Amino acid sequence: MKILLLGRNGQVGKSIYHKKKRGQEIRTVGRETLPFDDGYLLLKNFQLVLMEFKPDVVVNAIAYTNVDQAEEEKDLAFKINGFSLEIIASVIRKFNKNFKPVTLIHFSTDYVFDGSGTKPWVPSDIPKPLNTYGHSKLYGEQVIISADIPFIILRISWIYSIYSKNFLLSIFKRIKDGGTLRVVSDQIGTPTSATFVSEFCHHLFKNFNYLEKTGVYHLSPKGVASWFDFANYILLTLKKGSTLIQQRSSEIRPILSKDYSTMAKRPKNSRLDSTLLVNSFDFEISSWKTLAEREIKKLI
Ligand SMILES: NC(=O)c1ccc[n+]([C@@H]2O[C@H](COP(=O)([O-])OP(=O)(O)OC[C@H]3O[C@@H](n4cnc5c(N)ncnc54)[C@H](OP(=O)(O)O)[C@@H]3O)[C@@H](O)[C@H]2O)c1
Repeated sequence: MKILLLGRNGQVGKSIYHKKKRGQEIRTVGRETLPFDDGYLLLKNFQLVLMEFKPDVVVNAIAYTNVDQAEEEKDLAFKINGFSLEIIASVIRKFNKNFKPVTLIHFSTDYVFDGSGTKPWVPSDIPKPLNTYGHSKLYGEQVIISADIPFIILRISWIYSIYSKNFLLSIFKRIKDGGTLRVVSDQIGTPTSATFVSEFCHHLFKNFNYLEKTGVYHLSPKGVASWFDFANYILLTLKKGSTLIQQRSSEIRPILSKDYSTMAKRPKNSRLDSTLLVNSFDFEISSWKTLAEREIKKLI
């Protein structure tokens, strides 16, 4: 299978690329070739890349992901997470008509929901974003759904990795520094490693039939946690594996969202129900703790 991966430097893009299998043809393109904030260049270069490489699948790991900053950069967030996808989808549509079918795999988010209740969200639940980032991602979904191309939208949440900026790395750093950490305990979800997301993508790449299963799916490990639970699990696992961390006097205390002010409002319930995905793609899902332990061990 020929895979064109848009965005090779982000957490998910990098993980997909690093899991590359022998015999697989993956071409990656980044911001310099496909600037999602420059419609003219994006259109021109995406047409060229598609014509030259002729992939079976395009994976879009590019997004505007700064949730708080999006409140101040609404236009840019919508440009990258929404309007650019109009260009990507229209080029793919034209290519599909003239050459061969290409499926677009795209990532969306739990932030399309308002976080009410405690039950995991299913793909058919009605989205109702609380913040600009969520609105821009929902708009992106709608662009793809109405584009008349084969697509798989994977809603994911609470992504961490050993790359770039994320919750795992910031807690790790603060634990190493020692002292007391205050972490929100009234937002629930499922910590999801970028490695897990990339494993699912590679599962899709193994089977051409999967690419025909157009739809919106939720991809999440098993289990539920608050950010406070996740931070405690990180501390516990680090302590088990590192004498250096055992010597640190780090302590984690719970706080409520209302006492931790952020520019963007966050959903209280970010749980995603993966049943549709598991049944459609015959994919086995591990618990978030098993997956987190694997990544934390890489840090140790
Ligand atoms: N992180 C999470 O917790 C989370 C949760 C739910 C859903 N998601 C979704 O999962 C997907 C992947 O997220 P991630 O955590 O891997 O994101 P990330 O680490 O922030 O990476 C974003 C990628 O987008 C690229 N990018 C940003 N602006 C660009 C532009 N103007 N032109 C071209 N490329 C640009 C970045 O390139 P540079 O490296 O060059 O800046 C980077 O490769 C996104 O669709 C995101 O919405 C993420």
